Amino acid sequence: MNVERDLVSAEAAGDERLIEAALRPKRLDEFIGQARVREQLSLVLHSALRRNRPPDHVLMSGSPGLGKTTLSMIIATELGVPLRITSGPALERAGDLAAILSTLSEGEVLFIDEIHRMARPAEEMLYLAMEDFRVDIVVGKGPGATAIPLEIAPFTLVGATTRAGLLPAPLRDRFGFVAHMDFYEAAELERVLHRSAGLLGLELPADAAREVAGRSRGTPRIANRLLRRVRDFAEVRADGVITREIASAALNLYEVDAQGLDRLDRAVLGALLRRFGGGPVGLSTLAVAVGEEPETVEVVAEPFLVRQGLLARTPRGRVATAAAWVHLGLTPPPDAFGAGVTAADPAGGSGRGVVAGPGEAPGSGEGDGRVAAADPGEGDGRL
Ligand SMILES: Nc1ncnc2c1ncn2[C@@H]1O[C@H](COP(=O)(O)OP(=O)(O)OP(=O)(O)O)[C@@H](O)[C@H]1O
Ligand SMILES: [Mg+2]
Repeated sequence: MNVERDLVSAEAAGDERLIEAALRPKRLDEFIGQARVREQLSLVLHSALRRNRPPDHVLMSGSPGLGKTTLSMIIATELGVPLRITSGPALERAGDLAAILSTLSEGEVLFIDEIHRMARPAEEMLYLAMEDFRVDIVVGKGPGATAIPLEIAPFTLVGATTRAGLLPAPLRDRFGFVAHMDFYEAAELERVLHRSAGLLGLELPADAAREVAGRSRGTPRIANRLLRRVRDFAEVRADGVITREIASAALNLYEVDAQGLDRLDRAVLGALLRRFGGGPVGLSTLAVAVGEEPETVEVVAEPFLVRQGLLARTPRGRVATAAAWVHLGLTPPPDAFGAGVTAADPAGGSGRGVVAGPGEAPGSGEGDGRVAAADPGEGDGRL
């Protein structure tokens, strides 16, 4: 995919990693939002500290930019142990993993990012390491090969994944604790923004924070990025003074609208409404209409539109909801999909599946109105 969409992409851009490091909370009580995960994790960590034993292995699952890496680092800090960082794609051969495991010190936290992308042989080695703190080093090839068991120091594995569904069950089952990270509420993002503004030395009035938070798609990474763009705009156009009007003008200039939709999102919705009367229309037809690859539309634009309750994937194709018509300033037809259902919370998070429900559009002969389970994180479910 070659689509330009730095601003509201939940993925980190190359040089963004450095800036992010500076904004990362270091301790659990600095970590904003995710109250349930924070409390569960705090219990796991405290009980481990009490027993003076490494805690259970932890799996962190959630969309990009929600704080998985941040939380993994916090785990090591809270335990007061060193942290070793690697990633699934770096563990191509079992030997890559063996080299790391055999040099872990007692109690160390091993963080494997994108753990769903680990190669099979390394994965199998990891099963044994997680369970018995042992690896089998295979020496030789063919019938003469022998496995030499090697003890490793008790450690804590912290895995992070945006695609928990892709983890093989034996691996998933070996985690004692799975932290499911959700999209953030707008109020939580406001706190993230105030914290970041403080670290960046910016004055951020409450109403300006609210303006930015509402457009941040429930994601701290996007909130921090939009804040930097607002800062740039304020520096050049307003002597560095950020107000709600300045924030709004900056984000309008960058074409991020009040609900966090960017140009591609709006193009997809616009085509669906104006050219296809709200659908249903097939993915590839819709993609041609906006001049993009079907994959781009499906993976880049649709998950957020589905999450916001603006678009539904049905067995007959893509359908705009009544909320989509309203969002683009149009009047929804009386039989619009999801008419009568309240629109999704613009902060994101609660919009999942809001348009579901058989019995929509009674008598319209549109099938049973079933909505395919569209998981925003997965990008499959092509219909
Ligand atoms: N709860 C939070 N409080 C404050 N800042 C946060 C929080 N969660 C994330 N951030 C900020 O958002 C940025 C992205 O977070 P992080 O890198 O941990 O996301 P991630 O889930 O690991 O993303 P990816 O899936 O792309 O690896 C970081 O700069 C961090 O400072
Ligand atoms: Mg990460």
